[in-house]
Amino acid sequence: MTDLVVRRLLVDMEAPIERLWCDGDAFRTALLNALSMSFPVGEQFFIDAVRAGFKTLPAVKQAELNDEVQGFIGQEATHRRLHALYNEHLARLGLENRWELRALERLKQFKDTADPRHALAVTAAYEHFTAILSNWLLHRPQALGNRDARLATLWLWHSAEESEHRSTAFSLYRALGGNDTWRLRWFRRVTLLFITDALRQTAHNLRCEGQLWRWRTWSAAGAFLFGRGGLVRCTFKPWRDYFRADFHPKDHDAQASRDWLEANRTAYEPVRP
Ligand SMILES: [Fe+2]
Ligand SMILES: [Fe+2]
Repeated sequence: MTDLVVRRLLVDMEAPIERLWCDGDAFRTALLNALSMSFPVGEQFFIDAVRAGFKTLPAVKQAELNDEVQGFIGQEATHRRLHALYNEHLARLGLENRWELRALERLKQFKDTADPRHALAVTAAYEHFTAILSNWLLHRPQALGNRDARLATLWLWHSAEESEHRSTAFSLYRALGGNDTWRLRWFRRVTLLFITDALRQTAHNLRCEGQLWRWRTWSAAGAFLFGRGGLVRCTFKPWRDYFRADFHPKDHDAQASRDWLEANRTAYEPVRP
């Protein structure tokens, strides 16, 4: 069991967002904005999946996992609230959130699925992605640049908590007797969807900004994704770990998350200690 603290982040989400807020880099800005666009709908789905799975657990298991599940729900609810405010600024900048519409359409398939383990396997798969991307970012906060300290804090706080609750959905899936066949079947599907959705929305954001066909956008993207210390290069191995039969998200270290939370105590207030 993990102690998950819900934290109120002390940032001003009223102040507008600059167009190239992330280090003046068009690709990085567009990619992070794209991810933010997916959070309100995605994290609501995760909350619903965890809640529904938890309800079907036997009482003894519920007592065991209750605190962790409540912490997970509280953290994700806080993330989606702040990212909804972030996304309102993006809409004012003229960016169009197509990812959310596609996701809402796709999620309809779960409405008639009686077995809560499917939605949980999907949640565990996305949580693996968010955890490995978060861990990468916590080790490289400079990727966020220094033009908007508030957004840098928001991304690092979110990353720290994603890393912190990385095993909640997975543990619940296991507690409900979820098997590896479906866990991996959903993971493969989520991998394809996540990469496609993220790239499509990033490209659309760049198109909206008139940055899509610039050589500089893609040369910077190449270095960011595939260069030394690059995002894809560094997260490939942890991504692949999920295929191991004995894998558990706890196998991945979360020291960077603990370090950030410790070093940035003035950036947040615990709501549920
Ligand atoms: Fe989150
Ligand atoms: Fe999460």
